[in-house]
Amino acid sequence: MKLYFSPASPFVRKVRVTAHELGLSERIELISITLTPVSPHEQLRSSNPLGKIPALLTDEGTTLYDSPVICEYLDSLAGGNLIFPAAGAARWTALRRQALADGIMDAAVLTRYEEAVRPRELRWQRWVDSQFLKVRTALDVLERESLQDTFDIGTISIACALSYLDLRFAGEEWRMSRPKLSDWAAAIATRPSLAATLLAAPAS
Ligand code: BEZ
Repeated sequence: MKLYFSPASPFVRKVRVTAHELGLSERIELISITLTPVSPHEQLRSSNPLGKIPALLTDEGTTLYDSPVICEYLDSLAGGNLIFPAAGAARWTALRRQALADGIMDAAVLTRYEEAVRPRELRWQRWVDSQFLKVRTALDVLERESLQDTFDIGTISIACALSYLDLRFAGEEWRMSRPKLSDWAAAIATRPSLAATLLAAPAS
């Protein structure tokens, strides 16, 4: 299998952590690409019409996107229902948490593009503030959840979202008012799958 990837993408990290947890990392060749919403990657676009990463080229010759689909595909390859609970409340909780964490990543990545890619004279602070309101509100919800004793696609996604905030938005200091989430993030970050896929924050 081949995975189009960029090391900073939290969505790609989610796929890589999942592969690591399922013992599938060695079967995935990483194809490193550079792209932004305004400088698409032509080869990727021929596989994924949306031009987004992650995109996985399977051994059968199909391309899967985006991260929830790829992660569930990898889970099925490894036997099924290992990190995606099969049914019932556990499944819906895991999928809801995945959606919440993916929403944090979406808002954070859009903000990153606004700040790093959009010409300074076209930036719109109110739009950035609205994206970050989503991030902060979602983090407050996670502070009130019991994440301990659960390891599934929901908690993998949350761990990757929090780590992306540390990478790109260290000044946000999300831990300050969220001690439970902070302790949980520190504990889960020691898992080999997360340690092996961590991109160090740039020196400031
Ligand atoms: C980043 O550099 O923050 C980034 C790169 C690719 C996808 C998403 C985020």
